[in-house]
Amino acid sequence: MDARQMKIKAAEAALEYVEDGMRLGIGTGSTAEEFVRLLAEKVAGGFRIQGVPTSERTARLCVELGVPLKSLDELPELDLTIDGADEVDPQLRLIKGGGGALLREKIVATASSRMIVIADETKVVDMLGAFKLPIEVNSFGLVATRIAVDKLAARHGLTGDISVRASGDGPFRTDGGHLILDASFGRIPDADALARDLNAIAGVVEHGLFIGIASLAIIAGPDGARKLG
Ligand code: 5RP
Repeated sequence: MDARQMKIKAAEAALEYVEDGMRLGIGTGSTAEEFVRLLAEKVAGGFRIQGVPTSERTARLCVELGVPLKSLDELPELDLTIDGADEVDPQLRLIKGGGGALLREKIVATASSRMIVIADETKVVDMLGAFKLPIEVNSFGLVATRIAVDKLAARHGLTGDISVRASGDGPFRTDGGHLILDASFGRIPDADALARDLNAIAGVVEHGLFIGIASLAIIAGPDGARKLG
């Protein structure tokens, strides 16, 4: 089974949790896109859901495939969000934001009664941090915010480069117009404390540590999908 087939397996398993009439948060990334394709087939077959996308990219795919969308302001309370992740640990703590959508992803997931993560085995880790931690920051005061993040990392005993995410000739901009700092920490022994402390830095809009948000992860490997949580 290749990487794409594993993503499809995880998405198929997640689709079983989607019920007719649900208000659904729809994630971002290549795994979430496989989910959107399967969901679109169900919708074409008469299944009724109302989706809230976590990015402009996901919104475009949903529109293209005929998945009905609402804004989060129209549907502020959701039944379920299905989304991918960059890392998942045994406590279902996540790193997200590889695709740059972490702020909307977190807002949508926390407006949902339940979040289910879909991923392949390569995303499962014993300890978060091998994947660069995305930190969404306001462009105002970027240098000061970066220094504050650096100092915080040092207090947590974390070393590694913290760089502004680039795209083409300039910096990457999120759907909200912010910048992303990618922090190469390697391993994050106390992700809960780091998440709390990052939220206390004024220039940090949001970070990619999703703690206590996901209640189930569907992990696909060569032999099929298994559940974590
Ligand atoms: C986007 C995300 C994605 O869910 C994450 O990057 C996983 O993407 P993929 O399924 O393509 O590996 O957090 O901000």
